[in-house]
Amino acid sequence: MPAIVMSNAGPNGAKKLEGKITIYVVICGVIAATGGLMFGYDIGISGGVTSMDDFLEEFFPVVYERKHKAKEDNYCKYDNQGLQLFTSSLYLAALVSSFVASKVCTKHGRRLTMQAASVFFLVGVIFNAAARNIVMLIVGRILLGVGVGFANQVRKYRSRLSLSRYASFLKLHSTVHSSSLSEIAPVHIRGALNILFQLDVTIGIFVANIVNYFVSSIHPWGWRLALGLAGVPATMLCLGSMVIAETPTSLIEREQLMEGLAVLKKIRGIDNVNAEYEEILHACEMARQVKQPFRNLMKRSSRPQLVIAIAMQVFQQFTGINAIMFYAPVLFQTIGFKNDASLLSAVITGIVNVLSTVVSVVLVDKLGRRFLLLEACGQMLITQVAIGGVLLVNLKSTNELEHGVAVWVVVLVCLFVSSFAWSWGPLGWLIPSETFPLATRTAGYAFAVSSNLLFTFVIAQAFLSMMCHLRAGIFFFFAAWIVVMGLFVIFLLPETKNVPIDEMSERVWKRHWFWKRFMDEEALDKKDSV
Ligand code: BGC
Repeated sequence: MPAIVMSNAGPNGAKKLEGKITIYVVICGVIAATGGLMFGYDIGISGGVTSMDDFLEEFFPVVYERKHKAKEDNYCKYDNQGLQLFTSSLYLAALVSSFVASKVCTKHGRRLTMQAASVFFLVGVIFNAAARNIVMLIVGRILLGVGVGFANQVRKYRSRLSLSRYASFLKLHSTVHSSSLSEIAPVHIRGALNILFQLDVTIGIFVANIVNYFVSSIHPWGWRLALGLAGVPATMLCLGSMVIAETPTSLIEREQLMEGLAVLKKIRGIDNVNAEYEEILHACEMARQVKQPFRNLMKRSSRPQLVIAIAMQVFQQFTGINAIMFYAPVLFQTIGFKNDASLLSAVITGIVNVLSTVVSVVLVDKLGRRFLLLEACGQMLITQVAIGGVLLVNLKSTNELEHGVAVWVVVLVCLFVSSFAWSWGPLGWLIPSETFPLATRTAGYAFAVSSNLLFTFVIAQAFLSMMCHLRAGIFFFFAAWIVVMGLFVIFLLPETKNVPIDEMSERVWKRHWFWKRFMDEEALDKKDSV
């Protein structure tokens, strides 16, 4: 999940911060990218493994039998709660553990939280790769989920330490201004920077697709290798968390001021860090003044941002994207592809996902959020209806699609994935991160993350069963949601491109035809909110 975007107004105004790109900053960047890659890898890996015969024969013999029985209904071959739990349990565990992880992070700092995340990841990978029964498989996935919950805190780690440096990697340094918590994004590239985090996730999914393709020919333990390779980024995360120091922000938050200053000098590679030190002090002070963020969030004046943050996440999942990301190999086998072809098709959708996310990085601050979302609604609607239509006409209970028709389905799936990847995928995260005011920002974003994990769990647990019951109709089900989300964007989602975060309330919410009625109370709320 991408980092939350913070204000770019600090006590020193728009001043450029001093500092070199030290090895420490590079390690931070790598570690945080590793968090995104791991999350993506876990999204992409389960579908391929689920479609492998060796895996099914060992853990889900019922599904294996069904898959190889000629008379079995195409749409129901994989309908099995245990099989779906193998994918979904990770997200439920991540949801529950985020609450604990956030407390651990506040109390014990980011470094320890990161170490905990890597230990959970590593143990989870061992359970999965060495699994002898379903319980070991599920426990492994749950531990990976707990790792994801803890690693979410690590994202804050990178964003606080190195977003400005990240930008300078991209030769944008001259445009980067100082901010509270050096978690900054110049307004005209705020979207692009934020989407870089989503790019990590899509690359992780793509790597998983490739791994699945290559290991599927290794019998009978290729799937163990696929699950075990998640140990590579987990080990990187573990080693990184050993060598890295605690963040200055985390030390200063916990009132260890001298230590914080010393670490800041070390990581910036210079002695004159006073400006940044003051920024962090100021930001921590402001954060401390935010009392009861969750109560603030429940106030009427927070309704617009809260509704939008949650809706973006629910809608993102109900586009049906994870039916593809989780279950593409299974889906492609359902329409009649053999093992290899279905895994290769998943590789193709994976690369389309990555490249289209790059399109979003380039276009989001030029074309705006609403344009991308609406264009995607059109494209996703057409492709979902077309996939549903093709299957309705051509895929009966026991036949296979003709090869040419099956290839068309893959093309339609790619068109669907591309539109998701330049719109609802990244923007589902970007918009909740840029709409909340300071008093509710962290709490509001936490709500968005939780909603995402909850609905990702729902789709992962339900999709194969829904396909069995609704058959080709499942694609019309998603299409209906896409109509609803298009209307939502048209009527209820204001444009936030190029609006400084601190001016969102005046320039966006108070001027919106519908949401402005909730803003009248803002003045009243303000007295006791901050
Ligand atoms: C979503 C994930 C999805 C991924 C696909 C993310 O924005 O939150 O659920 O699997 O995009 O790239």
